[in-house]
Amino acid sequence: MSAVVLALPESASLARRVSELASLPLGTLESRQFPDGETYLRIDAECASKSVVLVCTLDRPNDKILPLIFLADTARSLHAKRVGLVAPYLAYMRQDARFHTGEAVTARSFAGLVSRAHDWLITVDPHLHRIHELGEVYTVPSLALHAAGDLGRWISRSVENPVVVGPDEESAQWASAVAGAAGAPWILLSKMRYGDRDVDVRIPDVEPFLGHTPVLVDDIISSGQTMVNVIRQLRQAGTRPPVCVAVHAVLCNGARDAMLAAGASIVVTTNTISDSTNGIDIVPMLASAVRDRLYER
Ligand code: R5P
Repeated sequence: MSAVVLALPESASLARRVSELASLPLGTLESRQFPDGETYLRIDAECASKSVVLVCTLDRPNDKILPLIFLADTARSLHAKRVGLVAPYLAYMRQDARFHTGEAVTARSFAGLVSRAHDWLITVDPHLHRIHELGEVYTVPSLALHAAGDLGRWISRSVENPVVVGPDEESAQWASAVAGAAGAPWILLSKMRYGDRDVDVRIPDVEPFLGHTPVLVDDIISSGQTMVNVIRQLRQAGTRPPVCVAVHAVLCNGARDAMLAAGASIVVTTNTISDSTNGIDIVPMLASAVRDRLYER
């Protein structure tokens, strides 16, 4: 099997580590913007008859999706045998239904775009809620890796007497897996969302856990409002300062500061999206999945 790893500039360091850990060569991509904002791309690597592995994490997806599709298309036109995508964060999974008449179900549209351009997909903890598995919307072989084990091990190493807190009912399976890996108890809250930054959370009786350190776990921190609400209520109930742990540091402007101001002691994320909060490394898991994918063909 002959393969080459390529990345758009924003994911260059991620791609370098994937190539090192998976023992695959890293190709060079020349990329720039023309004065009018259009994208110039040039692959400086042999693609003919090879499996080309594109690495592109898809936060801020509107800026990335078109260059990514151009890149996949270019690799094909250079006679790549297969073109796969490693997208540690997969965007547009949350608008997974038409809640109001006429709304775009962007989870499906985005999946269509990505599926048409690639032969396979590997990602980490995509937001699966009303869509239960990637295969419902992605038409190419799609693997969802799970960071629960890595999160749980970080918690058991770093947090004294933790209790894992899932922010809403849909996080039950996930919070229980993290708690299992951490060897910690877990509780679940209930969440109502009224708008993009308008969230209300109900907490259960936390009296039995006042001697524990609450560890709030979520798949995504975006505006941070889910975490901020939970932190405030836990602090009002008299808990220790919570630790916030998430897989994907989407972290819109000011989200981390808002969580710390609300009373969190620390915010820690995995490196599916590069951010100063990254403290949990999921690249070894990704690299091993890439090797499995390439060698099973
Ligand atoms: C939604 O269901 C997700 O699991 C997260 O809870 C949500 O995306 C967090 O968003 P925000 O940080 O904007 O509250």
